Amino acid sequence: MTTTNKNSAISVMNERHSVRKYTQYEMPQADLQAILEATITAPSSWNLQHWKFLVIQSDAQKEKLLPIAYNQQQVVDSSVTIAILGDLEANHNAEKVYGEVVNKGYMTPEVKEMLTGQIHGAYTNDQFARDEAVMNSSLAAMQLMLAAKDLGYDTVPMGGFDRAAFKKEFNVPERYIPVMLISVGKAAAEAHGTLRLPLDEVVAYETF
Ligand SMILES: Cc1cc2nc3c(=O)[nH]c(=O)nc-3n(C[C@H](O)[C@H](O)[C@H](O)COP(=O)(O)O)c2cc1C
Repeated sequence: MTTTNKNSAISVMNERHSVRKYTQYEMPQADLQAILEATITAPSSWNLQHWKFLVIQSDAQKEKLLPIAYNQQQVVDSSVTIAILGDLEANHNAEKVYGEVVNKGYMTPEVKEMLTGQIHGAYTNDQFARDEAVMNSSLAAMQLMLAAKDLGYDTVPMGGFDRAAFKKEFNVPERYIPVMLISVGKAAAEAHGTLRLPLDEVVAYETF
């Protein structure tokens, strides 16, 4: 028997669908703040928080984004589009993250030294840094979509945009890799129906 809970995270997951038609709605700053606060509670490798968010909400910036997002109209019609960027140099966050933890007495200085050494060593591998940036920022992206849904907004994630043009137009520092765009707003039309492959096609138990 499964447990049911109407207001559960699972019900928010079930209700989230990619909405591509939005009504004009100015999102209150408090809602944007609440969504972003929930977003950054995501877990990350070594707690390095490999993410940066670029919030695009002015008409002028939305118009610049439109051709870069291959004219996907939702970037203009939604309240806000948030670019999820992965941090290729998240190892540089280690000092800040662990320094605070040591100050609070949650970690000894020796453990901090050991961990930061391990982290800087791992980051000599560019492919590793890139994988970590994409993986960890994507976890935050999922939280963003669920938090938005919980607060009465709909979203659509977009991988369809010109990353090089995006970096140029929005002055993205080399340190960050554009991972996806997420439009957030009030739906003007329902998402179109989608299906999922059945569990028995996507789950294996114990071994293949
Ligand atoms: C990484 C990623 C990239 C996506 N890129 C686009 C996109 O560029 N444009 C779009 O309209 N939908 C995009 N989608 C939305 C998917 O089409 C959608 O999630 C999928 O069809 C399942 O539908 P649902 O989100 O409504 O459950 C993307 C989704 C993900 C996760």
